Amino acid sequence: MITLASVTKSYGDGADALREVSLAIGKGEFVCLAGPSGAGKSTLLRLLLREDIATSGQVLVDGTDLATLAREARQAYRRTVGFVFQDFKLLPARTVFENVATVARVMGVARAQQWRRASMLLQQVGLQHRMEAFPQQLSGGEQQRVAIARALMNEPSILLADEPTGNLDRALSLEVMDIFRDINASGTTVVMATHDQDLITYINRRVVRLHHGQIVGDRGVA
Ligand SMILES: Nc1ncnc2c1ncn2[C@@H]1O[C@H](COP(=O)(O)OP(=O)(O)O)[C@@H](O)[C@H]1O
Ligand SMILES: [Mg+2]
Repeated sequence: MITLASVTKSYGDGADALREVSLAIGKGEFVCLAGPSGAGKSTLLRLLLREDIATSGQVLVDGTDLATLAREARQAYRRTVGFVFQDFKLLPARTVFENVATVARVMGVARAQQWRRASMLLQQVGLQHRMEAFPQQLSGGEQQRVAIARALMNEPSILLADEPTGNLDRALSLEVMDIFRDINASGTTVVMATHDQDLITYINRRVVRLHHGQIVGDRGVA
């Protein structure tokens, strides 16, 4: 489903952020991208989100080379991918419901239908009672759960997460991992970057280890 073929990414200054990386991820896999800060994890996720393109090599998703996507195709592709960031990136002046429903609203989905799907997702992350709250009225863990519900609004086939628990304490981090596990169990491919070895151990799935832009380890399910 996802294939990186000899992907190099350089930003023009210093060493390559990714160097000749080749990797295949199957549909429905849960992959932890591990490695220290600067290893290239975020760069790899940005290529998969098509926020950026490889300097050389190919990034293929379902056979399509992401570099070839023109503006509209790129937007359509990005709607099939959910993304969760370390810092949540919620809109502070919007309610929880509005944050979750934003993309559906932009796409012209009827409000009643937006409400139904948002309620269902917020229930899944345990926040259906906070739909009218504003982000600053929620804890960090709750805000990240809102961001996860938002990422799932379009029923993405791939969920990408970049250090999703970086701003959360241990208990909340494990809660987020349990949610990711459920999402993955329902068929969504999950690729999560983290430098947190405890989380990797907890999740106990495939681990692709990066160091200085290269894959230095790829361990399957224990
Ligand atoms: N926009 C950018 N411009 C220049 N260099 C960058 C940029 N983004 C990342 N880098 C560099 O690429 C390397 C990999 O960074 P990154 O992918 O963010 O690693 P990680 O997420 O594993 O910490 C680092 O050396 C970083 O400084
Ligand atoms: Mg990073």
